[in-house]
Amino acid sequence: MTKSIKRIVIGLSALLFVIYFTACTNEQADNNISEISAMDTLAMTPPMGWNSWNPFGTGVSEMVIRETADAIVSSGLKDVGFEYIVMDDFWHGGRDSVTGLLYADPEKFPSGIKALSDYVHSKGLKLGIYSDAGTMTCGQMPGSYGYEVEDAQLFADWGIDYLKYDYCFCPDYVSWNNDYRMAIDRYKAMGDALKATGRPIVYSVCEWGPRSPWLWGKEVGAHLWRTSYDVADIWESPRNETSPIGILTAIDATANLGRFVTKGGWNDPDMLVVGLNNTGFIKGGGCNDIEYQSQMSMWCMLSAPLMIGCDVRDMNEATKTILLNKEIIAINQDELGKQGFRVMHKDGIDAWKKPLSGNRVAIAFLNRNSKDEKVTASWEQLELDPETRYDAYDVWEHAAVEHSEGSLSTDLQPHETKVFVLTIE
Ligand code: GAL
Repeated sequence: MTKSIKRIVIGLSALLFVIYFTACTNEQADNNISEISAMDTLAMTPPMGWNSWNPFGTGVSEMVIRETADAIVSSGLKDVGFEYIVMDDFWHGGRDSVTGLLYADPEKFPSGIKALSDYVHSKGLKLGIYSDAGTMTCGQMPGSYGYEVEDAQLFADWGIDYLKYDYCFCPDYVSWNNDYRMAIDRYKAMGDALKATGRPIVYSVCEWGPRSPWLWGKEVGAHLWRTSYDVADIWESPRNETSPIGILTAIDATANLGRFVTKGGWNDPDMLVVGLNNTGFIKGGGCNDIEYQSQMSMWCMLSAPLMIGCDVRDMNEATKTILLNKEIIAINQDELGKQGFRVMHKDGIDAWKKPLSGNRVAIAFLNRNSKDEKVTASWEQLELDPETRYDAYDVWEHAAVEHSEGSLSTDLQPHETKVFVLTIE
């Protein structure tokens, strides 16, 4: 080979290498982009939906899920944003000893989960499922420990859009020594497995809070993480101790965690008990409609996921009024994605503030007391600029409210929450 031919051959090889290398790098970049877009752009506002646990517990079934999907559409809940229908514990039949695959209870789910997800999707809704990072779920059904990859793929193949992942039957769950590292590893194993399926699946960590999941939730790929034990149908419980706790107790457990919230990573003080009226699976004594309205108000102020926990096939008017209020939901879903924080906590009255897009701010007054109260808060107390003039709008009355310059006043019934949107005049 002459020198010049050699040069041409070397030059061509180098060119081919560069073309090949660039193609590989682009492919990798594309893969990365698709990975990012599949999971990381999910739940940019707090997820909204329904979960079977509070109303049905062990009685979840295909019929319940289908009828719930129908009711979410016919009641208008879909139109205001409720989207995910989540089957909680007790959907399981078992784990096949030969294939190692989970299967649904054939009596409760005669058509199987794939057919069910097709049905839910045909209604323009999404389907969620429940599993556990330990060997068994809290209801002692098979857990996903050691089967993370297989279960994530099965859920994806079934067309699942949301996974609630519990923490019963992990070794430190039994010993109560709160091993953070173990929790992170187990939740990351499932987070990675979900990501590897390529299907966008909202990932909900249900560790209840003792291992501070707000510190590592994003790291394991989660979009939301529980900050409290289970909320029962009661207003208040003594402390954030193991279930059940009250609405007010869950609010307090989440109050100071706002700095960990990002768009796509939300604090989850558990599901709504609105409309349960001491029926269903989880009881507690029942709340009144003022208390249910307070839960909805405060979950919206906290940018909490809004997972309905009552039987939506049979809602009374008060429940519908609470759950279908677009104006309070708009506060929850506001594009700024900021969790509200407490600016006043005095004599049993809380004032909360949540920055909203468009230079607006939501203010909530919560009466923790069991008697009527009158509250007046100045712009200074609400940490607002004292010189600014605001229009105030009451999102439960659906009306503008008059107020004196530089302050806002309102009357509150026992356990009532009122929410106002302030807009610069
Ligand atoms: C609990 C969880 C509840 C529900 C229940 C099912 O650990 O906090 O929300 O999922 O398990 O057994």
